[in-house]
Amino acid sequence: MKVAVCPGSFDPVTQGHMDIIRRAATLFDKVIVVVMTNVAKSPMFTQEERVDFIRRASAGMENVEVDCFKGLLADYARQKHATAIVKGLRALSDFEYEFQMALTNRKLNPDTETTFLTTTSEYMYLSSSLVKQVAQLGGDITGFVPDCIVDDILRKVDEIKQCERKAVK
Ligand code: PNS
Repeated sequence: MKVAVCPGSFDPVTQGHMDIIRRAATLFDKVIVVVMTNVAKSPMFTQEERVDFIRRASAGMENVEVDCFKGLLADYARQKHATAIVKGLRALSDFEYEFQMALTNRKLNPDTETTFLTTTSEYMYLSSSLVKQVAQLGGDITGFVPDCIVDDILRKVDEIKQCERKAVK
């Protein structure tokens, strides 16, 4: 059985991520989407919230599982006997960082190949940071993220604003 791991911080999952997950699911017997820690980012959503968002968005994709892991991606891939790590590539700007991660992961776990799927042109511009920024500034995020999580994002943005207002008082 060919297993692929699709890692990311998914803060939150976007339509661009979902496009990669959907396409990976046609190439592998099983795809495990794993919510991980990116030490360079401070997430807006908890790990549980991010897992829940992807579970709801991928409901009906029969060979897709959702998980979370706090350690090294290379170790997780080994534990799951993954043939491949699947990542989406949007633009040249993603390449250097992704290339560095792919080489590090190969050194740590030579049994798992990193593979890249090029993002569908419709989602080239899209990122989780952009979604959060648009939501925080009152813009419409419909179409950027799966419909089933739009309200959760708006609720979180409201909660953060309320906390900030209380902190200022
Ligand atoms: O969606 P992101 O933030 O680009 O995903 C990056 C992520 C979470 C896949 C990366 O930071 C990662 O693999 N984190 C787990 C810890 C790890 O293995 N670090 C070394 C990567 S070479």
